[in-house]
Amino acid sequence: MTPPTFLMVRPDNFYVKYSINPWMHPKEWQSSLNQTAIEQWEQLKTIIENAEGKVIVEYDKPGCPDMCFVANAGLVFNNRGLLSLFAYPERQKEEAHWHDIFDRLHLTKVQDILATGRHIPFEGAGDCLWDAQRKMFWIGYGIRSDNEAKWPVLETFGQSSVGLKLIDPLFYHLDMAMCILPHGDILWYPPAFESISGSWIKERANIPVSVSDALAFACNMVAVNDTLIFHNEMSEALQVDLIRMGYTLRPTDLSAFIKSGGAAACLTLRLDNTL
Ligand code: ARG
Repeated sequence: MTPPTFLMVRPDNFYVKYSINPWMHPKEWQSSLNQTAIEQWEQLKTIIENAEGKVIVEYDKPGCPDMCFVANAGLVFNNRGLLSLFAYPERQKEEAHWHDIFDRLHLTKVQDILATGRHIPFEGAGDCLWDAQRKMFWIGYGIRSDNEAKWPVLETFGQSSVGLKLIDPLFYHLDMAMCILPHGDILWYPPAFESISGSWIKERANIPVSVSDALAFACNMVAVNDTLIFHNEMSEALQVDLIRMGYTLRPTDLSAFIKSGGAAACLTLRLDNTL
C-alpha cells in the first residue's frame, strides 16, 4: 500500500513581503524569522515522516515568498492535477513554477479553468477538500476562489462538490475553517461560513471549534493515517476530544507561518487522494 504522500516546498525564500490577508504585516517581519521558518518546516516534515507519511520536496523561487504554501498550488486527485489560478497578482507569479513542478511529479496536468477563456480564481486544495467518506469535494468560495470553480473541478475529476461561502477575511481559505478528519468527522468554525452554507454543513459537521481554537489554526491540520499534526496552540479541551476519538496528536510550532496566515495544512499538498 502506498503511504499518504505529500508535496512540501522548502521555505528558503519565505517571508511576509506583502499583505493579501489580515494576518500579514510586512513591517513586523524580522529577518531572524527566515531561519525559524526553515526549522519549523523541517520539524513538520519530520513529524509527517515519523507518522509514516511520504514527503516529496520541491524548492521555492526568489520573488515568490508564499510558495511554501503548497496547498494552494492546485488540486491533485486520481493522479490528475488541476492547477490553481490565484486571486492576487502577488501569487500569480507562482503559477508558471507550479506548472513545472506538476510536470516533474508526472501528473496529468489539467488547466480547464484557463480553457474556458475566463479567469476563474481557484486556490487549489486550500479551498477544496476531498471527503473520502462522502465521496465528494467541499469547495470554499467567496474570498479567494470563485463559486464557478466547481465546474472545472467536476470536469477534471468527475466528482461532485458542495460549495460553501466563506465570509470572514481572517478565514479566507476553506482549510482554515474546516477539516475532514480521517474517520469522517468534520471539524469546523461556523462563523466563517454564510448561514445558508452553515445550515448545510451543520447536518454533516459534528465538531464546531471555538473562536480561540479557530484563530490558533486548529482546523488547519494535516492528517497522516490516524495522526493529526497542527500548530501547538490548540486548546486542551479540543485535544482531549480528538484523543477520545482515537487520534494521535502531534502539535508543533508553526508560528512563523502564521504570520503569513498559514499553518500545517497550507504547507502540504496531498498527492495520493483517489476514489
Ligand atoms: N500568505 C498566503 C496567502 O495569503 C498564505 C496561504 C495559506 N494557505 C492556505 N491554504 N490557507 O495566500
